[in-house]
Amino acid sequence: MNRIRTIARTILPWLAPLFAGAAWGATLTVDTTAPGKAISADLIGIFFEDLNHAADGGLYAELVQNRSFEFQATENPRWNALSFWTLDNAGGRGRLSVDDGEPLHPNNPHYAVLEVVEAGPVRLSNPGFKGIPVQAGETYRLSLYLRRLYAAGRWDAEKTVAPLPLSVRLESAGGDVLGEATFQIDDDGWRRQRAEIVATGTDAGARLVLQATVRGGFALDEVSLFPEKTFLGRENGLRADLAQAIADLKPAFMRFPGGCLVHGHSINNLYRWKETIGPVEQRRQQRNLWGYHQSMGLGFFEYFQFAEDIGAKPLPVVPAGVCCQNAGYQGGTGQRGLPLDAMPDYVQEVLDLIEYANGPADSEWGARRAAAGHPEPFGLEYIGVGNEDRITPLFRKRFEMIHKAVKARHPEITVIGTVGPFSEGEDYEQGWAIANALSLGMVDEHYYQPPDWFWNNLSRYDGYDRRRSQVYLGEYAAHEEGRRHTLRAALAEAAYLTSLERNGDIVRMSSYAPLLARREGYTNWAPDLIYFTGTELFRSISYHVQQLFRAHRGDRYLPTALQKDAADQRLAASAVRDSASGDLILKLVNGDAARRVLQIRLPGLRGSRPAELVVLGGVEAETISDEAQPDRVLPQSSTRPLGERFEYEAPPHSLTIIRVAGAT
Ligand code: AHR
Repeated sequence: MNRIRTIARTILPWLAPLFAGAAWGATLTVDTTAPGKAISADLIGIFFEDLNHAADGGLYAELVQNRSFEFQATENPRWNALSFWTLDNAGGRGRLSVDDGEPLHPNNPHYAVLEVVEAGPVRLSNPGFKGIPVQAGETYRLSLYLRRLYAAGRWDAEKTVAPLPLSVRLESAGGDVLGEATFQIDDDGWRRQRAEIVATGTDAGARLVLQATVRGGFALDEVSLFPEKTFLGRENGLRADLAQAIADLKPAFMRFPGGCLVHGHSINNLYRWKETIGPVEQRRQQRNLWGYHQSMGLGFFEYFQFAEDIGAKPLPVVPAGVCCQNAGYQGGTGQRGLPLDAMPDYVQEVLDLIEYANGPADSEWGARRAAAGHPEPFGLEYIGVGNEDRITPLFRKRFEMIHKAVKARHPEITVIGTVGPFSEGEDYEQGWAIANALSLGMVDEHYYQPPDWFWNNLSRYDGYDRRRSQVYLGEYAAHEEGRRHTLRAALAEAAYLTSLERNGDIVRMSSYAPLLARREGYTNWAPDLIYFTGTELFRSISYHVQQLFRAHRGDRYLPTALQKDAADQRLAASAVRDSASGDLILKLVNGDAARRVLQIRLPGLRGSRPAELVVLGGVEAETISDEAQPDRVLPQSSTRPLGERFEYEAPPHSLTIIRVAGAT
């Protein structure tokens, strides 16, 4: 007896910490030899919307704000065409005004007029989006349109006086010149001037300064500055670090340009794709319904090109001929439709988009694509029509017209309909009723819900009727109280993703929303996948969840049984096969504060096989990874051999991926 007590006293203190807080009883059994069920290859993609300054001031690498003098009070009551431009008499006396007499293009009606009334330095500066980030040694591409109005105080059609000199500089916040280009303005028609400036210093808060000293007046428009190092070095390109972070998700598809942005703040504010292609100075800019300005520099050509660059299928969404129900400050009742006699042209606009994407280079719209530098088709397979619209008769009529025309002309394209902003309710039901009536290829479901909702709805799609439309879960995210992007929220999304894998035959696509948010006072909506400032970016924990699920995707879902007791309600699991490698991939989500011991059974697995284990989490559920504490939760990888039966202890609040090489 004494011996037993002695042994117990010696051993128990060693064993106790191993089991403290742990619970066990769960068994995960996977039939590794079964053929499994097909999983959509497009299951995980991205949702890009220009909100939170995701495009202008974000992914679109333009560094000048209000480059074409088109900002207006309808976008922000404090704005006008000269917003973000400051005139400074630095020895001379100048005058700054805005004009629309002889615009560069009717779509770009306003331009600035700078006059030097008394000789001496007169400066016009632009701070970019809260500072222009400039780095020593880097090259910046400057472009601007100039037109001389008068010189030496008089009109000078014969050009008898010398041209007007203009210096364009990068200046630090403290006024140091970090690089300069000079021009002579002697043309009385618009002329594009370009230069490359190599920065001699670094400053995240620099500004662009145009300095004139000689008496005279000139017009200027489309004043643009890009870093030479955009993503893949493209002109009119994308911010390299942000684009790379998106590319690193390796998304199957990219949805653009929204979101509510698509159907806009009024019928005049619908996102019309044709107005976003061609030379940037000829694109019709407009108000962004999220309360700022869309330069349209990132337009449909750039979206298609970026999708292709990152290996993602393009998924454009077009308005269904109606504007947002919240348009015109009429919360829920502001939906308006294009007049029915305008619908045939609008339907044609949608058909033209398909031709723009897929038509031969000698077709009318394919030729526009080719002129932009892309003779090959973009391989469009999907088109979204409408976004979270109220499902009214007005909507239905216009949607049906578009759907009918696309199906008749392009049966190869999957039309994705909309079923409202919520996981249930009137729009959801009415949207599904239309989908059933039209045998729609796919519908776009949206829901933002608390983490618990995701855990409680893991079986949502198990019961979906496979004979009906397929599902694109186009917008979702777990919303905590206060919209914080916690580990708890990310794990609820991970658990839900296991259920999407299980239902990857009916749920064809999904995208977390939104993708990007600029800090520094620009965030309209939280949480988001990637946060950024002018110079930095921060990946949320949800970003890692998305990336891991995509990196460890499979094409077959294997029969999986997770036996758990009442204490294990926050456990979710999936098992997929990647047929190309034969790898078996298990995903285990423990949303609980206690460790969970799982008995894992893989009948059919022969011998011991090398396996990779990736663990995300294992810390407090409240943990946030952001600019205050970047990269607090990162995937940790290790390897070990695994056999047919083993025990695994899932850390508290964690996602574990177990990838067994060549197991199936
Ligand atoms: O993702 C943010 C917004 O949420 C989208 O614009 C809209 O579709 C949804 O309501």
